[in-house]
Amino acid sequence: MTDPIYVTDALIAEDIDAYLARHEQKSLLRFITCGSVDDGKSTLIGRLLYDSKMIFEDQLAALEADSKRAGTQGQEIDFALLVDGLAAEREQGITIDVAYRFFTTEKRKFIVADTPGHEQYTRNMVTGASTADLAVILIDARKGVLTQTRRHSFLAHLLGIRHIVLAVNKMDLVGYDKTVFDRITLAYRAFASEIGITNFTAIPISGFKGDNITAPSVNTPWYKGPTLIEHLENVELTSASDEAKPFRLFVQWVNRPNLDFRGFAGQIASGRVRPGDAVRILPSGKTTTIDRIVTLAGDLPEAVAGQSVTLTLAEEIDCSRGDVIAAAESPPEVADQFEATLVWMADEAMIPGRAYWLKLGTQTVSATVQAPKYEINVNTLDHLAAKTLDLNGIGVVELTTDKPIIFEAYADNRTLGGFILIDKLTNATVAAGMLHFSLRRAQNVHWQATDVSREARADLKNQKPALLWFTGLSGSGKSTIANLVEKKLYRMNRHSFLLDGDNVRHGLNRDLGFTEADRIENIRRVGEVAKLMTDAGLIVITAFISPFKAERDMVRALLAQGEFFEIFIDTPLEEAERRDVKGLYKKARSGQLKNFTGIDSPYEAPANPEIHIDTTRITPEEAADLIVERLLG
Ligand code: ADX
Repeated sequence: MTDPIYVTDALIAEDIDAYLARHEQKSLLRFITCGSVDDGKSTLIGRLLYDSKMIFEDQLAALEADSKRAGTQGQEIDFALLVDGLAAEREQGITIDVAYRFFTTEKRKFIVADTPGHEQYTRNMVTGASTADLAVILIDARKGVLTQTRRHSFLAHLLGIRHIVLAVNKMDLVGYDKTVFDRITLAYRAFASEIGITNFTAIPISGFKGDNITAPSVNTPWYKGPTLIEHLENVELTSASDEAKPFRLFVQWVNRPNLDFRGFAGQIASGRVRPGDAVRILPSGKTTTIDRIVTLAGDLPEAVAGQSVTLTLAEEIDCSRGDVIAAAESPPEVADQFEATLVWMADEAMIPGRAYWLKLGTQTVSATVQAPKYEINVNTLDHLAAKTLDLNGIGVVELTTDKPIIFEAYADNRTLGGFILIDKLTNATVAAGMLHFSLRRAQNVHWQATDVSREARADLKNQKPALLWFTGLSGSGKSTIANLVEKKLYRMNRHSFLLDGDNVRHGLNRDLGFTEADRIENIRRVGEVAKLMTDAGLIVITAFISPFKAERDMVRALLAQGEFFEIFIDTPLEEAERRDVKGLYKKARSGQLKNFTGIDSPYEAPANPEIHIDTTRITPEEAADLIVERLLG
């Protein structure tokens, strides 16, 4: 164990560059601490920062202010003050985010992600853990292994953290009793092996008194293992093993200052690369060799995982942002259907069938998630049947992307296997996910190429296929206007087909009701059918409430540019309810009909429809004329 080095505030202030440069060469360990405030997490982090006497940037200003206030300027920063500061931050709502703190010893630099412990902060723990090499699981010696301990350990393991430290804290409060420590270690081992943690390091500590943090404690003569800092200084880094994996780089941008230079910039996700190496560009699968490794400081003979570089290729082949440059002989997979573990992080539950953005590395695609195969009870590890995932729910799901993505199993490569899901409307991150494997369904069900093309079928009918997608409240007039449009088209010798909500729900979709999930599935199926019919060359007209923007956009994305016409039949709720053609509003108001659109189920009006029909101002006949003119005119 090396002594923590002492650097005065003055040295940092005088020559921060020299100071940073001195520490640049050291390796960097990223770790997280898991535990609640009661477990002594703030105290432990305070102790690490305090004992290593090394306080970086963000800490510095706060501490200087603190010591000024306390009149201790120029003296050692008071330990209690530091801890108070950390605890205060926590209470001021900074808990919502992960706080990254830096400290260093002679041997190594550290970034500790301080993640609040309560269940509602799973999101933070996931954020902090996804880049961590090590997790310190804090246990209060008086309390032993708690539900939260299990939860943290499970998440840490799930997120691929290979090193677990079981810090049995507050040993001073149990009289430094070896039997207490042994009992806790034993209990933890039983749980850990169940979830697949084969190895962990248990250390008896007192964050408050400083036992076994930087120096072996005289109070625990029975403990022969490393101190916490010693362990953190010597543990093997994940990045070291990343370098041993096959080479992969996500292309972040293409650097083309002039016609003679085309470089592909990004951070190396794994492996190492040298000029002359054979590489494969994905998804295209084309191969070539590396010409140069360019950096601001000049060309490199070799670069490894973690480095940001610009690569040039020996041949001029297609490669753009989001592509992966990989070792030619062992490229990652490309697929569009997966099994994955999801950690749901949004207040709104997951909606099976809805399209979310899936972001993996530099790739962003649209993805739909199916109802979970099962949810995992983190405390008992039981697999539970589930229809959805709620906030903090963890489950195994199957998901489908609209385009193939380049990936690897999370267990093999965290960069290529970890992803997030983003709500398309709010842009909020709703889940973190870990890919297990691809479902080879899509690869085995090949698209059957048919000789009579889409264009040929449309030509024969002398028309351009289109999808007229009507949307609006029940009773707004969708079916009436759609029917008029179809009659007009028929008289003009156009081949069309009208799919109407009430009718389709008697056949193809008779298994579906009016819950959010069922409506989404209703629209998904209708969208796919409508798409097939446009492939057949038809002008397809659909009349469904289709209350959600996300699904209307999903259908839009199925069609070629210019073929999808969103037609908003805009009838105010009062007006639709006044007309009440089918008597359904009355039933809904009296509570006989649940989930009725506009009453107790939402309708998201289109913001930018291709055609906007205000039925309070024009007649159905006029509306139909307008639509036909927009379509054919
Ligand atoms: S959608 O929301 O899934 O697009 P769709 O257009 O297929 O709905 O079906 C709507 C029709 O079903 C309405 O015009 C109405 O006749 C009938 N219906 C029965 N129950 C409901 C309900 N709870 N909400 C809306 N429409 C209902």
